[in-house]
Amino acid sequence: MAQESGSVATDSMKFDPPREFQDAALISDMDEYHRIHRRSVEDPEAYWAEVADQLHWFKRWDTVKKWDEPWVEWFVGGETNLSYNCLDVHLDTWRKNKAAIVFEGEPGDVRTLTYQQLHHEVCRFANALRNLGFEQDDRVAIYMPMIPELAIALLACARIGVTHSVIFGGFSAEAIRDRVNDATCKGIITADGGWRRGRIIELKKAVDDALADNACPTVEHVVTYKRCENEIEWFDDRDVWWHDAVADADADCPAVPLDAQHPLFILYTSGSTGKPKGVLHALGGYMVYAAHTTKYVFDLKEEDTYWCTADIGWITGHSYIVYGPLANGATSFMFEGAPNFPDWGRLWDIVERHSVSIFYTAPTAIRAFLKQGDDYPNKHDLTSLRLLGTVGEPINPEAWLWYHRVIGGERCPIIDTWWQTETGGILITPLPGVTPTKPGCATLPFFGVDPDVVTQAGEPVPDEEQGFLVMNQPWPGMMRTIYGDDDRFKETYWDVIPGRYFAGDAALRDKDGYYWILGRVDDVVNISGHRLGTAEIEHALVGHPAVAEAAVIGTPDELTGEALVCFVTLRSGEEGSDDLLAGLMDQVAREIGRFARPREIRFTEALPKTRSGKIMRRLLRKVAANDPTLGNVDTIEDISVLARLQGDEE
Ligand code: WT7
Repeated sequence: MAQESGSVATDSMKFDPPREFQDAALISDMDEYHRIHRRSVEDPEAYWAEVADQLHWFKRWDTVKKWDEPWVEWFVGGETNLSYNCLDVHLDTWRKNKAAIVFEGEPGDVRTLTYQQLHHEVCRFANALRNLGFEQDDRVAIYMPMIPELAIALLACARIGVTHSVIFGGFSAEAIRDRVNDATCKGIITADGGWRRGRIIELKKAVDDALADNACPTVEHVVTYKRCENEIEWFDDRDVWWHDAVADADADCPAVPLDAQHPLFILYTSGSTGKPKGVLHALGGYMVYAAHTTKYVFDLKEEDTYWCTADIGWITGHSYIVYGPLANGATSFMFEGAPNFPDWGRLWDIVERHSVSIFYTAPTAIRAFLKQGDDYPNKHDLTSLRLLGTVGEPINPEAWLWYHRVIGGERCPIIDTWWQTETGGILITPLPGVTPTKPGCATLPFFGVDPDVVTQAGEPVPDEEQGFLVMNQPWPGMMRTIYGDDDRFKETYWDVIPGRYFAGDAALRDKDGYYWILGRVDDVVNISGHRLGTAEIEHALVGHPAVAEAAVIGTPDELTGEALVCFVTLRSGEEGSDDLLAGLMDQVAREIGRFARPREIRFTEALPKTRSGKIMRRLLRKVAANDPTLGNVDTIEDISVLARLQGDEE
């Protein structure tokens, strides 16, 4: 396990939901939570049918759930459309002129799209895609900045049954190429650039680099939105401007009734081995789960201005910026820039000016704000806020308490939401109107979620002891497979602990039945909430001609949660130098993206290995953390000899 000695103070402080919040909450009685939860796991079919009936179906399903482990189908025989449920359903109501998206760009440009306007833009872009030859079941990659057109692109694809695969704008050309080829995408939707800390991120250029030398032969079109007006290269045979494509596109584009099992999207995420996995989510189940969790976890009210600061390039943005909020008719706020540009007060300035009421961000961001002190938030009126959320990594109690006191004014419940790309939506979380919270704890399962903490053999672990977090039964948001690799899906998630969904996290359940998430147990590291596989970094490093072997581990970091430390041995004749170090850093940035740059690269003569040749990662973690139990040994060679003598071979 990655977490070896961590002890958790599970009986620490407890915070009851503020009275005022509780009185107005959708669920305001703890017994009611328990009652609904019990029923939802005992009779999931009845529960989810009731929930799904609140959405629009062109054809109602015949069977709620078909479960043939590990293959699940929800709402079998049903036909629906997520773009319809996010847009059309609101047009016959007063919400027609309600803000669906309020956007602020980094330069300060603000745009508001009502449901009516968003519907219009989505229809036109969907027809533009069709005019270019995109058809139902084609796949399209989306590589865009955080602007409304990114949401429009998702909703347009969903409208006509094109499967989207969003690639986070921080990924490199190499990473785009791998993902586009794995999903055999027929096109890419991008922008000339996006604004980040006053600079232009040249997105179209990265796409051009990815496509150079016909490296992605399935790509027929690249659609480019003009955002920054920066110079770009143009390839007549494949390039088309977004504004040209929509110029003569019809605004009439009825949503296509799609089978509930239709592949809505693919989203790549890192695993412990090999290349990133294309997590596939299917329409009906995902839609129902995203909509339902958004409503109850955020206790959504009609008048909320809801802001999730994630990027739509990650699952959080899919479920909790676009699909979940819009399916509920909410106002979803979108921001293009960085939290510290022009200074660390930017987000608080936005909260004040746009009167944001729900704010959902990552612990890394909270730790960074905490470090900057209270002055930035204190300069702003944050009293519009009524609910705070966190996601992406464990939150340390210090950050939790600061968030509660300084941002929430001790008035806002905090929901610490645990979930994954694979889960489609939030699985473990407080419900803000009822669940007493403990700093650093994700607390209790959402409706329909049936977790457990077990040993590797699947035996239950006593309360207050660490084990593996598993799910005993499927929920509607559960991924369907790894695109193109059913075997890997089964092996990764269902064969590790037979019969249960294996999340890859360690957890413990305390005596109140609360779940504490303790971190990954596999070789996945979480840097600022960005998930990376150490195998990917190692692959990038050994791709450098000077490198013989590489071992990469995650080590605790005060700010980013975890950081990468790389141990590298060189080919004979090569010598470790500052230049080479810089070259290796660049290599990782080029192969994956700048956000994946290691904190540290150490040259070493050899890597510590067990007799059977396995790299001793646990030992390397101790070395990286300067663990005092290692004693007075200087070199990794000495350390590994010592470890072998001590039988410390993991
Ligand atoms: C991994 C999933 C879910 C959207 C963002 C990340 C870690 C996530 C929490 C939390 C402790 C958390 C887990 C998980 N994680 N939320 N509230 N407390 N850990 O999605 O990139 O798929 O990463 O993030 O380790 O397995 P992801």
